[in-house]
Amino acid sequence: QREIAIAIDGPAAAGKSTVAKMVAEKLGYIYIDTGAMYRALTMKALIERVDLEDENGLVELLGGTAITLEQSVNGQIVMLDDRDVTLDIRTNEVTNHVSYVAKHRKIRQEMVRRQQELASDRGVVMDGRDIGTHVLPEAEVKIFLVATVEERAKRRYEENLKKGFTSSMDELKEEIAQRDQIDSEREASPLLKAADAKEIDTTSLTIEQVAERILDEASQAI
Ligand code: C5P
Repeated sequence: QREIAIAIDGPAAAGKSTVAKMVAEKLGYIYIDTGAMYRALTMKALIERVDLEDENGLVELLGGTAITLEQSVNGQIVMLDDRDVTLDIRTNEVTNHVSYVAKHRKIRQEMVRRQQELASDRGVVMDGRDIGTHVLPEAEVKIFLVATVEERAKRRYEENLKKGFTSSMDELKEEIAQRDQIDSEREASPLLKAADAKEIDTTSLTIEQVAERILDEASQAI
């Protein structure tokens, strides 16, 4: 059977990684979370106090940084140099700074280069903001997931509850909207639906229904 590439893009907290993982598992493909790579670099920059507006400083930092995504039975493990940062890259601090790191053109160039290398063995599901437009423009299946800000904030809220903490819906909404705005308005490969991507509004769909639709698209392409 032919092995294809599936690109899943969309705004923050639209459920991309959850469905991408599910689809990858069903197909026996590898899953690559590109947001985790920008998050890992952001975490390191915050620790090493590199100015997030200093593009060249960040490029130098990235040059000496190994970011690896390992597949384990419990899901994806993100390694930053020799440290497991799977959980640390999800803190509010990283979440609220990552878009400033990701807007630099030279950072994106290097990340895209690394991501294309990771995806060179086909049989891949990759999620992010620019996968269908820049990282894998040749992907056989391109999906653009959207949902209202209210629904995305609600999902984040429930996700946080499961992790054991309550959050303010208003703050979540504002944070999601702000990240979308920076990601959509940046000059270097902004968040954009590829012309040939299929848009799925997940607002009133379950994760399983979304995964099912993507698997339908995939089976037509395989
Ligand atoms: O997907 P996730 O929410 O973890 O992504 C974190 C941030 O990384 C995004 O808000 C965006 O700024 C950046 N990103 C990006 N391009 C990608 C993936 C993520 O700019 N392909």
